[in-house]
Amino acid sequence: MENGRNKGRAPPSATKTMSTRDEARLAILISGRGSNMHSIVDACDSNFLRARVCLVISNNSDSKGLISAREIGLPTKYIDHRIYENRESFDQALLSALKEAKADLILLAGFMRILTPLMIYPFLGRLINIHPSLLPKYPGLNTHQRAIDAGDKEAGATVHFVTPELDKGPVIIQAKVPILSTDTADTLASKILEKEHEIYPLGVQMLIEQRVTLENNEAIMNGSALPAKGISSA
Ligand code: GRF
Repeated sequence: MENGRNKGRAPPSATKTMSTRDEARLAILISGRGSNMHSIVDACDSNFLRARVCLVISNNSDSKGLISAREIGLPTKYIDHRIYENRESFDQALLSALKEAKADLILLAGFMRILTPLMIYPFLGRLINIHPSLLPKYPGLNTHQRAIDAGDKEAGATVHFVTPELDKGPVIIQAKVPILSTDTADTLASKILEKEHEIYPLGVQMLIEQRVTLENNEAIMNGSALPAKGISSA
């Protein structure tokens, strides 16, 4: 995902944690294929997550994920960013839809829009993203090829809190895969995607169970800040 720059405003503290309702209400924001969205839906269906998807939003009407979300009967909303004058007014539309859906947690899953603080701050601590690299390495796009070009021996995926700095929010959990000499960006992407489907539900579960929280721009677990690389998945 991409997100916007902090325009010099002091970040507020993390927003209130979820209510103690039985099921957390998850909103998922996508732009494309939606495989991570499906991993979350499956985790709800199997009761791995005490949660349900209350809304899927896409800024792309052709998004495969949006189409399949409709097919399986999830509440969906298409919000076309092109009709808004600027990023803030698009974010305002997102915010309204998320509030109306009473979303507890917002999951970015291949959502290819820059978010502004207007959208990020109201959900600080309840807004997370999955990124296909071992952050802090390779924020932004084209992560797999960049890891190969750099001669890295391993790559992976990261679930992290979203803060106004692009792909720099505190890390919750990471999973690694080896990079083989035969790997291309495509083979690496598919190995990492499998790991994404494992760690995104795990990260969401940690949030739902309030085992990890965001405080003062750190991911906190058992009263201590997690290391910069978060938890390593087994
Ligand atoms: C994933 O690789 C995710 O890490 C990145 O965008 C891709 C989305 O894939 N943020 P999908 O739409 O979930 O299949």
